[in-house]
Amino acid sequence: MTKHFLTLADMSPADLGRHLKRAIKLKADTLAGKRNKSLEGKILGLVFEKPSLRTRVTFEVGMRQLGGDSIYLSAQEVQLGVRESVADVARNLERWVDGIVLRTFRHEVAEELARNSSIPVINGLTDLVHPCQVFSDMLTVLEKRGRLKGVRVGYVGDGNNLANSWLLGAAMLGMELTVACPKGYEPDRSVLRDAKKRAKETGAKITIAHSPEKAARNADVLYTDVWTSMGKEKEGARRRVAFKGFQVNGALVAAAKKDVLVMHCLPAHRGEEITDEVLDGPNSIVFDQAENRLHAQKVLLEALLGGRKKKKATRGK
Ligand code: CP
Ligand code: NVA
Repeated sequence: MTKHFLTLADMSPADLGRHLKRAIKLKADTLAGKRNKSLEGKILGLVFEKPSLRTRVTFEVGMRQLGGDSIYLSAQEVQLGVRESVADVARNLERWVDGIVLRTFRHEVAEELARNSSIPVINGLTDLVHPCQVFSDMLTVLEKRGRLKGVRVGYVGDGNNLANSWLLGAAMLGMELTVACPKGYEPDRSVLRDAKKRAKETGAKITIAHSPEKAARNADVLYTDVWTSMGKEKEGARRRVAFKGFQVNGALVAAAKKDVLVMHCLPAHRGEEITDEVLDGPNSIVFDQAENRLHAQKVLLEALLGGRKKKKATRGK
């Protein structure tokens, strides 16, 4: 694995498999009450320019469970690139903390922070990708289905950060993914190109479609996310029109396999991309997904922060 985790492509498919195995073990240990203090004395800095429930809480709890601690910095405090440059923020934080989770808008800001940082930077969501979410979703699917290769995933909705990370993850793990989105809301072109290239090596099948039924047909997993992501609120009204018909409801679930797993990264906009009936229904595993953020990310923390020495602080004369 590379020093930073900005996208799933920062792991090799072998790393991904190894880390998922480790997550299963770490989760079992945690649930059995076994404590592993592998990050004792380490501090994680969370720089969040967008709101968060799951990502913030799971990283903070994960650090404490591993014997470390964390500090949360909201958009008002840091003001990346406004109050001071992104590079200078990195040059400060690396003197005090052992790793950074960044949630921001433009993916290039995460790349810039990482480029200037001697400590690991973990992407806690950018407009482009949400790798921590999909990494832990892979753990959830693996637990529920016992395998990932060949699992058929139908993603219905916006070709957003979640869809982009799913494209990469599915391609790396040999899954069959159909993304169904309205015209004009397709996933990022360069991510799609990369995923298709990787799919050739792993036997994954990647399809972009414009019919939700096509994605749902025979699906083992039906995945959706909000129509309007953080930062796109001004487009809300237009999107509600464009995405009409792209709702995961009872009829769509009926088109999938009988035991289809309904997944959503949350937060959900009930009544828009998903109905209450489905979100609270027997196929829904959304809160298991949320739980697994904790277990999966602890593996990332161990892999990235464990055993790594901070850049030496200067000493006074
Ligand atoms: N799924 C997810 O990342 O949730 P938060 O935005 O609450 O962190
Ligand atoms: N696509 C959503 C995911 C939230 C976890 C957003 O970016 O707002």
